[in-house]
Amino acid sequence: MILVTGATGNVGRELTALLPEARTLTRGSGADLAEPETLTPALQTVDTVFLIWPFLTADGAEATLGKIAQHARRVVYLSSSAVRFGPDTDPITRLHSDLEAAVHASGLEWTILRADTFASNALGWAGQLRAGDIVRGPDSAATAVIDPADIAAVAVRLLTDPQPGTTHTVTGPEVLSRADQVAILGTALGRHLTFEPTPFAEARAQLTADGRPPALVEALIGSAERRPRSDLVTTTVQELTGRPARTFRVWADRNAAAFS
Ligand SMILES: NC(=O)c1ccc[n+]([C@@H]2O[C@H](COP(=O)([O-])OP(=O)(O)OC[C@H]3O[C@@H](n4cnc5c(N)ncnc54)[C@H](OP(=O)(O)O)[C@@H]3O)[C@@H](O)[C@H]2O)c1
Repeated sequence: MILVTGATGNVGRELTALLPEARTLTRGSGADLAEPETLTPALQTVDTVFLIWPFLTADGAEATLGKIAQHARRVVYLSSSAVRFGPDTDPITRLHSDLEAAVHASGLEWTILRADTFASNALGWAGQLRAGDIVRGPDSAATAVIDPADIAAVAVRLLTDPQPGTTHTVTGPEVLSRADQVAILGTALGRHLTFEPTPFAEARAQLTADGRPPALVEALIGSAERRPRSDLVTTTVQELTGRPARTFRVWADRNAAAFS
């Protein structure tokens, strides 16, 4: 039995579609990853857990992994390819770096799946693009954004064909800036779209004024501000699924309805 956490999220939705026989962990049924005792019913008879950690720090991860280890034998953890830049890069790389260490120390048989920036982060532009043709926001370094469906397809392979003690980095097929992504999205939507970068100080002040907690603001802006450009393009999707990673254009075509 496989248990999928984050089953309603970008990756989890795709994963449960590919693995309909897997059990899902949902907050709706009272299970909370931050409260290990609530996980007991979902963990009954589970052998392998697909784990996401939807928080801003690793606080509590050790206890949650301990609870998982009481029931399951294996874990596949969804991490970030930015971990390779070092834990001090920004709060999100710190989080995933700490989680990888906790997974290694958990006593579970582990596999780490490090993903590049999700193509689905572009859904955050939907509100602006329903109102006009300009996307404003903090710029971030170019990187090979990946379709969550490809992350899910690789996860299926790692969940069903165990590769214990290994770390896999998945990226999309091409390195894209935010301006590139906005332009490609425009082509998919049949519109001329442009990206206007907002200075980090302005974006930070705006998010804070909107009432977001300081830790969330720092996580959002910190990663945009401090992550270096990444030219990393891996062949992991091809190797583990037998077909190449999908382009951002394919993701945009599939998700066009969300922007109009
Ligand atoms: N976005 C990126 O570019 C990127 C890149 C690399 C790695 N990642 C990592 O990928 C992971 C998954 O991202 P995603 O985009 O697939 O997820 P997502 O769309 O952000 O959804 C979060 C999921 O976590 C669940 N969740 C939230 N709080 C929970 C709690 N307290 N207990 C149990 N479940 C809870 C949510 O369930 P509900 O339906 O109950 O809300 C939802 O299913 C994250 O850890 C993220 O850091 C993201």
